Amino acid sequence: MADPYYVTTAIAYPNGRPHIGHAYEAIAADVIARFHRQQGRDVRFQTGTDEHGLKMAQKARETGVTPAQLSDEMSSYFIAMCNRLHVSYDVFQRTSEPRHHAASQALWRRMAASGDLYLDRYEGWYSVRDEAFYEAGELIEGEGGERLSPQGTPVEWTAEESWFFRLSRYQQPLLDLLRDNPGFLEPESRRNEVIRFVEGGLRDLSVSRTSFDWGVPVPDSPGHVMYVWVDALTNYLTGLGFPDETAEMAKWWPADLHLIGKDIIRFHAVYWPAFLMSAGLPLPKAVFGHGFVLHRGEKMSKSLGNVVDPLELADRFGVDGLRYFLMREVSFGQDGSYSAEAIVLRCNAELANGFGNLAQRVLSLIFRNLGGRLPEIRAPGAGDAALLERVRQAARKAVPAAMGALDFSGAIEAWMGEIFACNQYVDAEAPWALKKEGRLDRMETVLAVLFQCLRDLAIAIRPVVPQSADRLLDQMAIAPDARDRTALEDDDWYARLGATGVCLQQPVGVFPRLELADGAAH
Ligand code: MSP
Repeated sequence: MADPYYVTTAIAYPNGRPHIGHAYEAIAADVIARFHRQQGRDVRFQTGTDEHGLKMAQKARETGVTPAQLSDEMSSYFIAMCNRLHVSYDVFQRTSEPRHHAASQALWRRMAASGDLYLDRYEGWYSVRDEAFYEAGELIEGEGGERLSPQGTPVEWTAEESWFFRLSRYQQPLLDLLRDNPGFLEPESRRNEVIRFVEGGLRDLSVSRTSFDWGVPVPDSPGHVMYVWVDALTNYLTGLGFPDETAEMAKWWPADLHLIGKDIIRFHAVYWPAFLMSAGLPLPKAVFGHGFVLHRGEKMSKSLGNVVDPLELADRFGVDGLRYFLMREVSFGQDGSYSAEAIVLRCNAELANGFGNLAQRVLSLIFRNLGGRLPEIRAPGAGDAALLERVRQAARKAVPAAMGALDFSGAIEAWMGEIFACNQYVDAEAPWALKKEGRLDRMETVLAVLFQCLRDLAIAIRPVVPQSADRLLDQMAIAPDARDRTALEDDDWYARLGATGVCLQQPVGVFPRLELADGAAH
């Protein structure tokens, strides 16, 4: 039985259309999911939308629709984004679904049964934008002297009856978790921040609201809906059929990875494990807080007018161009910047001129000079085995090791290094000249070496640019079920493919050269 791997993204607030930050997270999680599938693991990948809370209720009121209507409309854009960007989720969980209400209420009842919930009165600051409570001491002063949350969002004074969760009880268990399991929260700098936050002492958390009703009703407590984060975090269990003791729960929980942005680490690395401990459920194995994608180094905001629709970028630069750029440009865990120029530059240099050109040169020579017959190693030289071996090793080891460690840019850099080596080899061996010189055996050998390298490199990059890699592998007559780790580790594939008498067609480029539209400088 393949080893299960359960990965999730954060579930976005569908109070507007998805932006590049949402696309970034979905793509990164998709690369991880595809990578593990390729490694032979049984993967479950869940994403979704976080539809309750004051933020959604207020946005709906402003727009003159009900929160349910707003959620229905906007969540459809998130689903469309995932589909368009080839995000291969297994479950898209919406929190307005009845089964999610049932799961959240079941979790609540378990926390109540542990004695961790009590009724009291909450007085303090709340940021609707962050859906978060803040201590007075955490607030900062805005330009006009107004109080702002540490994230710079407006806060309002809130005073109401509320259920509280005994977070204070979990200070020591959380410290033990964070200190003893370095892998639980990454990157490390974030882990240190959270440890300092927990060391500073944890106050009990207000976990219900009475001033609005757009949420999951608190069991047996009329007038109270759950604090949106309690229900939001539960989504990771809902998709598995919790609270029923389903085969899915047994197989997939605890999750292997919650992939989230750096702004919501506290919710995932402090509140969520505390809720789970209280409910007697196993904790997720890892939480990774990625950085933010900025537009030309600036935060995106509607007022700056720099919020770009990720689907527009996909239309302009191709889905795989966008995916490649985001995974390559940003060192995972840190913030990164994007602009149309940067996307064009990166994709042209590395995909079109680097890998695409290499593939096109090799496949065209095979088509033209050998009539599409697979070349054979007829006159091996010293450099041939060396190139084959280094590319093979990179595709089997260095690239997957970096991807498995979520170091996407490192994985792609290692991959690019091999393309560079292959291009040097092509230039040095000049197979087109070998043909003219009549050294046909040598030409065939060089093309055979390069064909094998191309296959390894296409398989290695598949999680990042799945459609393009598959289009290339199709043209190379590599069977769809021979594009995984097992195929990479198979030493005889080339001989077997040759024995089938395969005949390759005229190749079609799969990585187009991109152009900046006139005057477009987004
Ligand atoms: N609804 C909560 C998450 C609940 S998870 C149980 C939320 N939603 S969000 O829509 O504000 O953000 C969804 C995800 O997108 C978060 O992981 C967030 O960090 C990420 N990003 C939002 N803007 C981003 C960028 N500009 N760049 C990268 N990721 C960003 O938080």
